Amino acid sequence: MSIHLSPSDCSTQKRKKVTSQTIRAMKRKGEVITMLTAYDYPTALAIDKAGIDIILVGDSLGMVVLGYPNTLPVTMEDMLHHCKAVARGAQYAFLVGDMPFMSYQVSVADAVRNAGRFLQEAGMDAVKLEGGRERLDSIRAIQSAGIPVMGHIGLTPQSVHQLGGFRPQGREATEAHRLLEESQLLQEAGCFSIVLESLPARLAKMISERLEIPTIGIGAGPGCDGQVLVTHDLLGLFDRFTPRFVRKYANLHKEMASAFATFKTEVESRAFPVQEHTIEMTDQEWLSFISTLSEVFPNEA
Ligand code: KIV
Repeated sequence: MSIHLSPSDCSTQKRKKVTSQTIRAMKRKGEVITMLTAYDYPTALAIDKAGIDIILVGDSLGMVVLGYPNTLPVTMEDMLHHCKAVARGAQYAFLVGDMPFMSYQVSVADAVRNAGRFLQEAGMDAVKLEGGRERLDSIRAIQSAGIPVMGHIGLTPQSVHQLGGFRPQGREATEAHRLLEESQLLQEAGCFSIVLESLPARLAKMISERLEIPTIGIGAGPGCDGQVLVTHDLLGLFDRFTPRFVRKYANLHKEMASAFATFKTEVESRAFPVQEHTIEMTDQEWLSFISTLSEVFPNEA
């Protein structure tokens, strides 16, 4: 956990808001960057409290929150809705909104306009988009509009049908070469960092060492400058499948199901609610209420 303090803050231990410059400086100082996804207010609050550097409102919400089989159905309106909730919960973390499928692929103008909505309407600090060489014009245009851009190469879930499934990338020499080259191109186009998803660890390490900007890995080994996980995977909240690269730090799906079952049993057996959960009324008010009943319902007297 890294909490950023300026020298003048040290006496008061006051936390500072993380910026894209903080993230770049962390790489220069050799500090490891932490990133987690959030899609709602309470999760953002808890992640921020834990001192995580970056919160990504990932389009993974399509799968882990909305129940779609992949991220393709997620819309701009879905993203903005969830980004707004996260922005209300997080005070310090750097906030990155994930650009959904078809919000940046059609034209550069669309890409800039939609990227702008994440900052203007939803309180995000930056956007992320998937892809390499074919995205350079959009990345340049978004970042020259003053919007920090996070790149994303390797397994890019919005291209799942082109990739033939959610499978690791860069395992063949020509692929590895392309990814290495694309990481350089994304840096030159102005990305402040790049997500590397599902790559061989030694390729991700080489890419990270060659770039000035930080890499954030998911399923890309320990050689990246930072690590990200989908929070619902980390918490064991998403029960459909768990990618091999995930470490589960909790099993909340099981805990939730057990809490719901206990609630059902206790309500059915009248063990809940009991005295401590009920609202009292003074005897005087009750008697006064009862005495007026015959006026209101004369037939019941
Ligand atoms: O959508 C998402 O959560 C992501 C992460 C896996 C990096 O893109």
